[in-house]
Amino acid sequence: MASSLRLVAGTAHPDLARAVGALLDGEGAHAAVERFPDGELRPAVDVGPGDDVYVLQPTGPPVHDHLVELLLLLDACRRAGAGRLTAVVPYVAYARQDRRTARGEGIGLRVVVDGLVAAGAQRLVVVDPHAPGFEAASSVPVVSLTALGALAGAVVDLARPGVVVAPDLGAVKLAERLAAPERLPVAVVRKTRVSGSRVTADELVGEVAGRRAVIVDDMIATGATIEAAVALLGRHGAAPHPVVAATHGLFVGPALARLSSLDLGRLVVTDTLPPAGPAGALEVCSVAPLLADALGRLHRDEPLGDLDSFG
Ligand code: R5P
Repeated sequence: MASSLRLVAGTAHPDLARAVGALLDGEGAHAAVERFPDGELRPAVDVGPGDDVYVLQPTGPPVHDHLVELLLLLDACRRAGAGRLTAVVPYVAYARQDRRTARGEGIGLRVVVDGLVAAGAQRLVVVDPHAPGFEAASSVPVVSLTALGALAGAVVDLARPGVVVAPDLGAVKLAERLAAPERLPVAVVRKTRVSGSRVTADELVGEVAGRRAVIVDDMIATGATIEAAVALLGRHGAAPHPVVAATHGLFVGPALARLSSLDLGRLVVTDTLPPAGPAGALEVCSVAPLLADALGRLHRDEPLGDLDSFG
């Protein structure tokens, strides 16, 4: 076990950093991030030689500011002599660009992960990454935590008969895992993405008539995926007021307004990202206990048990 646990927080999500820090026995480390008039960032950390350092920074909007700040914080910690350096990135930007979908594209996720490793990260901690292949993009170990436990707790009061719905093929694994403990059936939407903010829900596989749906996804960005799934479920006779649960609530642009027009029963996300707007109908369950538990165990070199997505 490296010496003291030090949690270094970037500026992306101070509330989450405070909540995780309060639950950890280790010391927080001060990080000052100066911004120059031209937009450059200059972080400085008070990490000591040999410290077991965890740099916490989700990379939600503004994505590039938060990403570059994370890279610079990692580099600062490495140069300060951190004994072990872990990037804790609850939400990883570019995770959806995990493969090429057309000729001429790059693989954004690979560039981001390589950047984190080049800046000094010896290990990554992420929460419900978009692609199951996330780990394969990394040359350093990835600890992939899941917030499904927190989300499940928030949706267990679902009126039966229920059905858990994956709003696209990528969410099938999440849906199966959410459904399993309650032995709920799973339905899957076949989705086509038309543009960044438009999708079509083309087909539904599974029985939803008369059932109240819990739609589960890794993230909500524009809300297009949820909107299309809700409409398709309605056409297939699902009960009104579906519940929506997602790990990462980006809610870009008018997403919250778009979702509030859907007459949802509940809309539940975690706090891997800062709140995108006023609380309203949005329910937020915290991943701070999950992160604190995981970082404590990693620091003590203990097994993660059911905290990671293999549990
Ligand atoms: C895509 O594969 C993801 O799992 C989400 O379904 C998607 O990113 C949500 O984006 P939006 O809310 O813009 O439809």
